[in-house]
Amino acid sequence: MAKERLDKIIASTGKWSRREAKELARHGLVAVNGAVIRSVEEKFDPESVGITVRGEALCYRRYTWIMLNKPAGYLSARSDGQGETVLDLLPRELGKQELFPVGRLDKDTEGLLLLTNEGSLAHALLSPKRHVDKVYYARTAGRLTEEDRQAFADGLSLGDGLRCLPAGLEILSSGEESEAHVILREGKFHQVKRMLASRGKPVVYLERVQMGNLPLDRGLSRGSFRFLTEEEIAGLRALV
Ligand code: URA
Repeated sequence: MAKERLDKIIASTGKWSRREAKELARHGLVAVNGAVIRSVEEKFDPESVGITVRGEALCYRRYTWIMLNKPAGYLSARSDGQGETVLDLLPRELGKQELFPVGRLDKDTEGLLLLTNEGSLAHALLSPKRHVDKVYYARTAGRLTEEDRQAFADGLSLGDGLRCLPAGLEILSSGEESEAHVILREGKFHQVKRMLASRGKPVVYLERVQMGNLPLDRGLSRGSFRFLTEEEIAGLRALV
């Protein structure tokens, strides 16, 4: 792999900014292959050297993968002149990593949103051909029925001509307001809302709770994020 500046490598972990990396190195707290390096301008191949910060091995990652518990009110976009985007929920030092959301959630949809800078895996996870299920918790106005479940399973045709792939509808409760898990392997614009509206059961609340084998980490409060573990990233790779 190409050589990169030491401060860039250290900042890629998301734990320190480049400025903090510079300070750590100035204080003699950064070592490469056991030798203290005080200038963060030096370049190394991060995949073939051992870097320590304060004596702890740095876990270098070529790509960054983040799980965000998206709150309502934020756009799933890289930047927007008008409103706040999900990237505004991340610390500034991650801003240089060119992260983008893996698929979109509507402004008022909450829950699991992955962000990454690994384009190929992100696109594969979103491709309907790869059969990676996205699971949504939906609350609807109106009573969900067995006929609704069957219509989802058969593949809905929406009024605007969209023909949906067969989808799962697991009814959790049914009454004047109902709750369900909707399981999709595609992601058309407003798809869950459009599918449920076509059955006369408009969505009043929507949250994504799972992507493939990765459930929303309930330890994350709304608006907070964490890095995916190596095992979780390997699990996503195994899906595609
Ligand atoms: N389907 C929707 O209707 N909205 C979302 O945000 C995601 C899926």
